[in-house]
Amino acid sequence: MRLLYRGAEADVFRGEWCGLQAVYKLRKPLPYRLPELDTLIRSQRTVHEAHMIHQAKLAGVSAPHLYYLSPQESLLVMEFVKGERLKTLLLEAGLTKGRVAALGEEFGKSIARLHAAGIMHGDLTTSNVMVDGDALSLIDFGLAVHSQRLEDQAVDLRLIKETLTGAHNEVSKQFMQALLSGYSSVLGSARAEAATRKLAEIERRGRYARVE
Ligand SMILES: Nc1ncnc2c1ncn2[C@@H]1O[C@H](COP(=O)(O)OP(=O)(O)OP(=O)(O)O)[C@@H](O)[C@H]1O
Ligand SMILES: [Mg+2]
Repeated sequence: MRLLYRGAEADVFRGEWCGLQAVYKLRKPLPYRLPELDTLIRSQRTVHEAHMIHQAKLAGVSAPHLYYLSPQESLLVMEFVKGERLKTLLLEAGLTKGRVAALGEEFGKSIARLHAAGIMHGDLTTSNVMVDGDALSLIDFGLAVHSQRLEDQAVDLRLIKETLTGAHNEVSKQFMQALLSGYSSVLGSARAEAATRKLAEIERRGRYARVE
């Protein structure tokens, strides 16, 4: 197996599962936690991630197929999603405006489907979106929660907006505009506007908090 990614909590490997291309996400022991507690937390998060991936699919969002779950080993084996991270794509030179708009619109629709189903992704960065042609899949549901709160939906939008301005500033405005248009096309303009108003409110709060 080949290491794809070494995260703070999990290592992600690429391998095979019954002849299919697969990703092995293994939550590793953290030395600063009590061992019994550590095992429990890792196993709960692994089960939780599998559950939320399934919930996302029920909401109509493309996410990796689940192949195997072992709470004891804190291991999740899932489909290897082909394509590239949205992060890599948005950093490419020569990306056309049409492509940026199409990607933003699709991403906005996926977020809206989650929110319509009362799911907050919790880690909406461009590293957690895979793009294969026109198909977009969301990954990394470890921090996802069930929530109907407008505030939580706005927090999801805020994180993606911050990631865009931080890492993809050239395309961030256009991408965010397209994202909100896709978001609104699924959720309806009233709910989408309520979420963006809440986002603006959170941003204002953030600014004041920094000044203090
Ligand atoms: N199913 C998948 N198919 C293809 N690539 C994947 C898949 N899952 C993860 N990856 C790759 O591995 C990287 C890390 O995976 P992931 O985001 O799930 O872990 P993480 O960020 O460490 O998670 P956590 O926030 O739970 O610690 C992704 O950005 C992506 O490049
Ligand atoms: Mg991630």
